[in-house]
Amino acid sequence: MLARISKSSKAAIAPASQRSFAKSLVSHNESTIRSNGLGQQNRTLSTATAKSASSPTHQKTQTRTMATSSLSEFGQKYVNKGLGRLTEAVITKGQGSYIDLDDGRHMLDFTSGIGVTNLGHCHPKVSKAAADQCMNLVHGQCSIAFHGPYLELIEKLLPVMPDPSLNSFYWWNSGSEAVEGAVKIARLATGRQNIITMQGAYHGRTFGAMALTRSKTIYSEGCHPLMPGVFTVAFPYWHHHNLPPSTPEAELVKRSLYQLDLLLAQQTTPNDVAAIIIETVIGEGGYIPAPPSFLKGLRDVCDKNGILLIIDEVQSGFGRTGKYFAIEYSGVRPDIMTVAKGLANGFPLSGVIARRELTDTLKAGSMGGTYAGNAVACAAGVACAEVMKEEKILENVQVRSKELFGFLNDLQKNTVVGSNILEVRGQGLMVAVEFASPTGSAHDPMIKPDAPANLAKRVSKRCQEKGLFILTTSIYEVIRFIPALNITKEDLAKGCKIFADAVEEVVKEG
Ligand SMILES: Cc1ncc(COP(=O)(O)O)c(C=O)c1O
Repeated sequence: MLARISKSSKAAIAPASQRSFAKSLVSHNESTIRSNGLGQQNRTLSTATAKSASSPTHQKTQTRTMATSSLSEFGQKYVNKGLGRLTEAVITKGQGSYIDLDDGRHMLDFTSGIGVTNLGHCHPKVSKAAADQCMNLVHGQCSIAFHGPYLELIEKLLPVMPDPSLNSFYWWNSGSEAVEGAVKIARLATGRQNIITMQGAYHGRTFGAMALTRSKTIYSEGCHPLMPGVFTVAFPYWHHHNLPPSTPEAELVKRSLYQLDLLLAQQTTPNDVAAIIIETVIGEGGYIPAPPSFLKGLRDVCDKNGILLIIDEVQSGFGRTGKYFAIEYSGVRPDIMTVAKGLANGFPLSGVIARRELTDTLKAGSMGGTYAGNAVACAAGVACAEVMKEEKILENVQVRSKELFGFLNDLQKNTVVGSNILEVRGQGLMVAVEFASPTGSAHDPMIKPDAPANLAKRVSKRCQEKGLFILTTSIYEVIRFIPALNITKEDLAKGCKIFADAVEEVVKEG
């Protein structure tokens, strides 16, 4: 069954007259809320609500809108400023490809919570599996005993592993933790320290994962020194080699592999390298699929030197690219694979999957974590694996992907905006549009002085004004499309139209 919008989610949207009424109540109370904190805020809210409309339904809607708008004020005051957001509104509901906000907006969601809610928000089967599990066992701590959903999830995923050698599983909570677990296994299994990561890589924000992240300086600014022993090699992305987008893939791969050879000859001997870690599709660095020939080249280097290959499928896994795992496009065997995000459709769950002989020698207790492999999250993961098959999710991704690429490629040919689109790229429903930029490195041959500034951010903002959430990514002018994998033809077309209109308007504004 493909994505749907429930009647209740539509009904939850307040009509414009109610919205403006609620707005006036909010501004009326803003000063009280700002000055007094939550206790006073609640009191103010109930007074305001009591004064509001007469019909019970009207009153209910206004109470909801009023309360959540004030919640946003509260959040802006009390939530850590280190967090950034696309909007200051509060999400009240998620259903399929849509989310509702407390200001009355019903938004088409092309972010999927950054590639997490692959089966749409609140997929009924996944949510029910979690709810049922809640009534049976919530926390079956992994250092106390096995629990059913933990093992059932392994059983479901064994047949879809990109290589049968991946047969040792460990469930954790976040992608960063999975990455750290993979590094730990690699170091323990090889007795070596160093890790090679990719320019543009994103592996997380915890200290070990942050040290492997090379997509933007913001993630580690002010936090150095990071985990030592990390070396970086240029990814086969034309920007990294100071070349135009038209550069043949083979040329980019040759240059990156040559840089790796140099790194291993000049910076760290292979004998000190535990692992090379790579995202199969660079995510936060710009949605660039790793060419199969590059992955094969890395596999060869690893095999020749006793280095382990860690494939990070945290964002690209679970059907996002049209295969269960993006690494399948290359046929390359990972030694260790990290997964998260789509694994449980929004329940916090990640995994480190390895060859058994790498983990058989680990001492009991060297791995673990209080919430690792939570029973509710694992039950959701089991339901996700079933939905992937039952609803033929991979087939939908392939069909929708063709439509999306068709649309974006046509946009690139458009006479009004096309000259500002440098590249359309990606795999499946992990797709990016890179715009031209008038600023950036003075040495970048792709700088286009007449291009409008900050195109990606402005287009994302304009899309939001038109009812679509869509994210930027990387240090370049890149917009990424990450809709739910079961998105309908109509919703995809609707989002594409909004995007095209937004691009045209922003480009015309200059
Ligand atoms: C490829 C990749 N690895 C690791 C992570 C870190 O995952 P988390 O944010 O769950 O810690 C992310 C998050 O976006 C990711 O995209």
